[in-house]
Amino acid sequence: MSATKSAQKLIVGNWKMNGLLADGEARTEELVEAIKARKSFLFDMVLCPPATLIGVLTSLGGSSLVKWGGQDCHAKESGAFTGDISAAMLQDLGCTYVILGHSERRQNHKESSATVQEKAKAAHAAGLIAIICVGETDAERTAGKANDIVSEQLAASIPAGATAANTVVAYEPVWAIGTGKTASADDILNMHQHIRGKVGDLAILYGGSVKGSNAAEILKTPNVDGVLVGGASLKVEEFLTIATAA
Ligand code: 13P
Repeated sequence: MSATKSAQKLIVGNWKMNGLLADGEARTEELVEAIKARKSFLFDMVLCPPATLIGVLTSLGGSSLVKWGGQDCHAKESGAFTGDISAAMLQDLGCTYVILGHSERRQNHKESSATVQEKAKAAHAAGLIAIICVGETDAERTAGKANDIVSEQLAASIPAGATAANTVVAYEPVWAIGTGKTASADDILNMHQHIRGKVGDLAILYGGSVKGSNAAEILKTPNVDGVLVGGASLKVEEFLTIATAA
């Protein structure tokens, strides 16, 4: 499995802490049927359900048409870490990706970029592609510090062994997540250009209130290799509209 940048846009759905078994199964089956019905498509789709659902969903018929990811993993391989999940456990269930350093983890679980880097190393060791999230807060952007904050997060979160085959970067401005406020076309253009200068050929996703109505414009922005979608990935029609805008 490789994340090497291609013409195909990477469309990642982060379900966050949403959905019980029946919801997850119904959503996956509907998505898989809709993808099957298309003769060709120009996207790679990754679904990141709650960890409780991954094992069941990856073994559903047709689920090989999408790829699977976890929403976090622990930095250690195993041990006395109650409630945590290792990268190998995700891989064992059929995941090829894991989201790391999401702003909700950085804020709610006080995860530092150093921790994110340790987790990314663990993900790589288990053969997973790490989707490393970065992004500034509203206050940081207003203070004119967005580029510096993102540079610092990139430098401290991405491990030395990162390549385009094992690491994807996701730019998610914190103020755009779940707020309905999308970064402007210019903000996305400028930040993705800035990130490109730091990460070379790693794929760069945009995330933050991506919807069916703004996906085409975001996806055609230079240096946007795909999108990381929260709320809109829970609605099959909306998520497919985003994917097919690619
Ligand atoms: P929303 O698409 O709901 O704004 O969430 C974005 C996000 O956090 C994806 O990881």
